[in-house]
Amino acid sequence: MSKTSPEARIKALRAEIDRHNRLYYVDAAPEISDREFDRLMDELISLEKAHPEFDSAGSPSRKVGGAPIDGFVTVVHRLPMLSIDNTYQPSEVREFDTRLRKLIPGSPVAYSVEPKIDGVAISLTYEDGVFTRGLTRGDGEKGDDVTANLRTVRDLPLRLLCDNPPPLLEVRGEVYMRRDDFTRLNDSRRADKLEPFANPRNSTAGSLKLLDPAQCARRRLRLFAYGLGSVEGIRFLTHAESLERFKEWGLPVNGHIRLVHSVDEVLEIIAEWDERRASLPYDTDGLVIKLDDLAARERAGATSKAPRWVVAYKFAAEQAVTRLKSIDIQVGKTGALTPVANLEPVHLSGTTVSRATLHNADYISQKDIRVGDMVVVEKAGEIIPYISRAAHDRRDGTEQPFVFPSQCPVCGSAVARDADGAVWRCQGRECVAVLKRRLRSFGARAAMDVEGLGEEMVEQLVDSGLVKHLPDLYRLGAGQLESLDRMGETSSRNLLAGIEASKGRGLARLLGGLGIRHVGETVAEAVAGAFGDLDSLMAADEGTLASVDGIGPERAASLRGWLSDPENQKMLLELRELGVRVTADGPKRQLVAAIAGKTFVVTGTLARFDRLGIERAIKDLGGKVSGSVSKKTDFVLAGENAGSKLDKARELGVKVINEAEFVELAGL
Ligand code: IVH
Repeated sequence: MSKTSPEARIKALRAEIDRHNRLYYVDAAPEISDREFDRLMDELISLEKAHPEFDSAGSPSRKVGGAPIDGFVTVVHRLPMLSIDNTYQPSEVREFDTRLRKLIPGSPVAYSVEPKIDGVAISLTYEDGVFTRGLTRGDGEKGDDVTANLRTVRDLPLRLLCDNPPPLLEVRGEVYMRRDDFTRLNDSRRADKLEPFANPRNSTAGSLKLLDPAQCARRRLRLFAYGLGSVEGIRFLTHAESLERFKEWGLPVNGHIRLVHSVDEVLEIIAEWDERRASLPYDTDGLVIKLDDLAARERAGATSKAPRWVVAYKFAAEQAVTRLKSIDIQVGKTGALTPVANLEPVHLSGTTVSRATLHNADYISQKDIRVGDMVVVEKAGEIIPYISRAAHDRRDGTEQPFVFPSQCPVCGSAVARDADGAVWRCQGRECVAVLKRRLRSFGARAAMDVEGLGEEMVEQLVDSGLVKHLPDLYRLGAGQLESLDRMGETSSRNLLAGIEASKGRGLARLLGGLGIRHVGETVAEAVAGAFGDLDSLMAADEGTLASVDGIGPERAASLRGWLSDPENQKMLLELRELGVRVTADGPKRQLVAAIAGKTFVVTGTLARFDRLGIERAIKDLGGKVSGSVSKKTDFVLAGENAGSKLDKARELGVKVINEAEFVELAGL
């Protein structure tokens, strides 16, 4: 009998170690001792060292950590990693359910109710079943490439247990640290005279940013997979189905996920959870409630920040008690007056808080909150502090009830209460606070993107009286600008060029920039797309507006109300006369025959485009972009340092082009 070849032995060892990893971390049913396990691993590592030709990214030996790295590269997510809207009361979860059902009439409604793991969100890419890239969430659009560290995560499979893996599978999930591992880590940090971590979430985030994967390996990070990103070559009908498949493939899925068929059952789980969460070996900060049906999710859609098919229910936040020193009134871009508390600084979940919102006038009077009171501060979503109540039993009689102003603190105009709510608004057409905020959001990148119109410039333009109404921006001339303080010729020229360039942004970005209540980026785009130009939009009644996908009655009423106001109409007409484009964007370019309908895979670094830029260019010209090479790929566009995808293209005989050839094909 011939001796087993090194290649065969390496293969066998990898399979054996994968199996034991799974038995240990996923099934919690180990079959061998740690020593036996280490022996297998040592044998694999020394064989791999002797035979580098059999190196593989999927080898479990990578779990002990590869060589240190220099830093983290930022990578654009294939699909943005959105966040989730939070709720804090069972009634808000009911409202979510009602809202969602209206958006998807006729679709089945079942919810997956899941623990909200308090760790770090990540995206894991598996190509042909092998883990090839892991990114942090970052800003949602792009994150850091932390692949080397993620390879060391205990229960993260480096290779999916699957004979026929999809060419591309992006798994979303949470990396976390168990409380016992966290305590052990902090004990050893204290022993080494190092600052201990504040909580398991911070230590997870810190561990993922270590430059030495071997050190990360010792942190004992773990994973829960809870969703899909971009996938190719496989289709799922429901979320539950995808989780089942994850489990089969060896991806760890939380064992407390429940599928239910009514909001009442969701609320029952919420009621039980406070107790149950304390018994878990890891931290959770709430529950996530997700629509199960994936086609219905598509119909429900998303705002620019969060999908409409998911909501988080957050457990009661940490609290702190401090003194309320005074109350300021802030005037927002829609004229809303918001009371803000000035507090004796107090420490709360990791930050020092000295200001907190009091929401509105009714909130202050209903809760009988007075200046001088000791108040309870909490953090909503652990970010924005708010005052939940006053400690009435700690009063000494010196506290003063707050008198809500009857005039705008900025312009002195009368204030009036909204017909539909508790908000008071400045009625002044010329309130400079409102105008300043409005100009800022009008000029923001996501809106009209007016280069040069920063905070200080807005202050100057408004305070000098050069801009009294929004359209005045388009009436500015070089002579006027140069009369302003600290305004040189160059900055004046830049601002004017920025203003000029903003004229062409189109109807969606104009509407999104006007500060209309309930009309953000996503709604503005939907409306602009549906009506095409300002005249058709002006002619639409409330019902027609409400029938646009993703709008609904509340937004339609707000928009119709705004459009019907003669002052606003005048402003829109002025803007149009001043040359601001009030039509929607059509397709960005003519489709290009050489590219339309063709599938591209981009690999390596390009000179003229970043990843997002090249993907947009291909899509604008009618092409499709895919993450992995298969026989169906029409072109592989290869830049500098192209790697395995280029090899695969050659292997399959897929046409490979370089950047110059692409530019030529595209006629760019
Ligand atoms: S779903 C668009 N499910 O909570 C929906 N998120 O902003 C994507 N999180 O940091 C998220 N447990 O990483 C989902 N079972 C779970 C989760 C979960 C924890 C985190 C997530 C993100 C935050 C939500």
